[in-house]
Amino acid sequence: MAEKRVLLANIDKENQAQIDTYEANGGYKAIRKAIPNIAPNDLIEIVKQSGLRGRGGAGFSTGMKWGFVPKDPSLPKYLVCNCDESEPGTFKDRLLIEKDPHQLIEGMILASYAIGAKKAFIYCRGEYFEGLKRLRKAVEEAKSKKYLGHNLFGSDYSLDIIVHPGAGAYIAGEETALLNSLEGLRATPRLKPPFPAVAGLYSKPTVINNVETLCNVVHIVNNGAEWYQSIGKPKNTGTKIFQVSGHVQKPGCFEFALGVTLREVLDAAGGMFPGTTFKACYPGGSSCSVLTARDLDITMEFETLAARGSALGTASIIVMNDTADMVKVALRLMQFYQNESCGKCTPCREGTRWVVQMLTRLEAGHGTYRDLDVIEQICKNMEENSFCPLAAGAAPPVVSAIKEFKNEFEMYIQRNPNAQGHPKMKVSYPYL
Ligand SMILES: Cc1cc2nc3c(=O)[nH]c(=O)nc-3n(C[C@H](O)[C@H](O)[C@H](O)COP(=O)(O)O)c2cc1C
Ligand code: SF4
Repeated sequence: MAEKRVLLANIDKENQAQIDTYEANGGYKAIRKAIPNIAPNDLIEIVKQSGLRGRGGAGFSTGMKWGFVPKDPSLPKYLVCNCDESEPGTFKDRLLIEKDPHQLIEGMILASYAIGAKKAFIYCRGEYFEGLKRLRKAVEEAKSKKYLGHNLFGSDYSLDIIVHPGAGAYIAGEETALLNSLEGLRATPRLKPPFPAVAGLYSKPTVINNVETLCNVVHIVNNGAEWYQSIGKPKNTGTKIFQVSGHVQKPGCFEFALGVTLREVLDAAGGMFPGTTFKACYPGGSSCSVLTARDLDITMEFETLAARGSALGTASIIVMNDTADMVKVALRLMQFYQNESCGKCTPCREGTRWVVQMLTRLEAGHGTYRDLDVIEQICKNMEENSFCPLAAGAAPPVVSAIKEFKNEFEMYIQRNPNAQGHPKMKVSYPYL
């Protein structure tokens, strides 16, 4: 399958980030078409029919999410664009905001109009200095052309967009933690329900969408829901930006119709380093189960990857060749989740720390066979009993690495003369 560039069609064009170039390349046509000619409810229907699913990881229907927002015109409503982008291996939103920021602004205008939001926010990862600069400039340019502000295109609809730098934490990308952070609070997740569509920012109805999701809306409005449905697979419509990193020759972003095979995406990334072979990859960022060479022909869709016990997530493929040491990989990933755990609930705060300590002990040659069972138990507890999905995402990369590459973990354990474990062994810090 060949690459199909829709969102990335103009990404390499000179000065695409400037409003004049964006317009010259067909930009801001979708909002002219929609406001005020398409009624907000009809726009929601178009997005529902297109089959667009959120690109932030969970793959929830975008049109349905918009449809949950109460219609009461007296209620203030908000749109929040999630550009926190801190999932390991993920770097598509950065490309979109740096190279084509007006595509996002146009998508946000359409989404805000559809749900009746008069104020929208872009919560952008704080370390994206260039992206923040370009977004702020793009918002000012859009205001100067009256694409933002009062009474857009002579209608009674008005909109303002505010660019807000993130708080420097992975958890701030979780939608309810993000809302807390936007309100000036610590970025810790909120209890759901109520869901943000009913009580979100400042307790008012709020839609939170990923950058890539919102960019898709521009093309759906321009080309129609049927055109969008014709790309990809029945339940996985449209294109997806795959980000490939790790031991490939040409890492980067590649846009394909959903349903492309893993092998085809890796080929687009130039294949493996010369003289090495594919060993494994995390297909959806780090918060999913590892795939192996047996999975190279899997189609990249939400359901196929879920059926395999993994996830499409953000379609960020972290590739490892035969030099990768899966014990070190598992340890490094769990260190990330330990550092990023917000500490609010015990299974995640303590569980991530315990697994790091046990894997550190194992890597140092002091592990026992029993450790592998205990790690699995801790991970299961994290998956089933934590407050938010961060911990549920921390378990699969480690549990699946142990399942698929048990021999590597056992090789480390065999360095320990007491590998069978002592029944009354005193286990103490720094090991457990
Ligand atoms: C720990 C954690 C981090 C997340 N980080 C992001 C992020 O950086 N960007 C994003 O769009 N979604 C992120 N999400 C998913 C959001 O909670 C939310 O589902 C998403 O923004 C919804 O947008 P969508 O419907 O367009 O996919 C994260 C979720 C979790 C649990
Ligand atoms: S699962 Fe982790 S990140 Fe989520 S609330 Fe609990 S401690 Fe915080």
